[in-house]
Amino acid sequence: MNANSTVKKVAVFTSGGDAPGMNAAVRSVVRTAIYNDLHIFGIEGGYDGMINNRIKRLERSDVANIIQKGGTLLKTARSDEFRTKEGRAKAFSNLEYHGIDGLVAIGGNGTYTGAMILGEEYGIPIIGLPGTIDNDLAGTDYTIGFDTAINTAIDAVDKIRDTAHAHNRLFIIEMMGRHAGYIALHAGIGSGASKIMIPEQTTDLDAMITKLKKSAERQKLFNLIIVAEGEPNGGAIAVAEKIKAAGFNEDVRVTIIGHMQRGGAPSCQDRVLASRLGFVAVEALLSGRSGVAAGIISDEVVFTPFKEAIESIKPINKDLLRMAEILAM
Ligand code: F6P
Repeated sequence: MNANSTVKKVAVFTSGGDAPGMNAAVRSVVRTAIYNDLHIFGIEGGYDGMINNRIKRLERSDVANIIQKGGTLLKTARSDEFRTKEGRAKAFSNLEYHGIDGLVAIGGNGTYTGAMILGEEYGIPIIGLPGTIDNDLAGTDYTIGFDTAINTAIDAVDKIRDTAHAHNRLFIIEMMGRHAGYIALHAGIGSGASKIMIPEQTTDLDAMITKLKKSAERQKLFNLIIVAEGEPNGGAIAVAEKIKAAGFNEDVRVTIIGHMQRGGAPSCQDRVLASRLGFVAVEALLSGRSGVAAGIISDEVVFTPFKEAIESIKPINKDLLRMAEILAM
């Protein structure tokens, strides 16, 4: 333990959309805190639980047998009340009531924003951990949950591929990602999709339809098109309508994989990432860091100020898109 640290009582919470590996991160925070003789608390339901005082002490056994579980044992929520000054005042008075003097916030952009504002208003040290399947947070190569989500997604596509091939059909498959195409891009490459459509790049639908017609002329209608939910043409259903209107009627099908991508046992990679980040979050609090998100870039731990992590956009690697186009010939 760092004898000079002023932090003695730490609380951990998960917030926003759940992501596989959040439990592994909580386990790591709890055990690292106990190892360092800190009191550790869990806040149930993110900022909502902070406002409503759903805060309880955690022991090492409370996080036994959870490293392999999806979801989050601490539950999660999106809280409108926390966006108000009054909501945050209630939340902070509950933290004070328990003597909590350090926080670990696990979630995405909205979670970081809440943590930044609370930290600025009340001066409480907070470390953020990137927990979202979308992989859309700056300050880390990968977010907790992304690897599991893309593996779930390609597993689904592999199954769809069997029936697509058997019937010589065209499938438009929608993946999560309202603002970011990481899941669609990676799962699209990993499943050998013919086309990947993401929010970061508008797809020329007419050009795509011309290509599809050519492949249909070769008696090959079987195709897999992966569409991120936030892509500019309006998602899988809208894309399918346009393709059908161009003359492909009976043989077009849509599958929306949806929230399946958020569930399930975390992959080993997500468990390791979550364990590493949970560990460094507690060490960061002990060494006096605050207002930063922990991440891993090129296998090195990095800390990024919340403001920077929130405002920077982690760019999609467009070379991967180009490669996918070429490989889909
Ligand atoms: O941020 C994770 C995410 O799964 C996005 O990919 C998706 O757009 C969104 O959450 C869905 O949110 P909700 O579960 O609130 O519908």
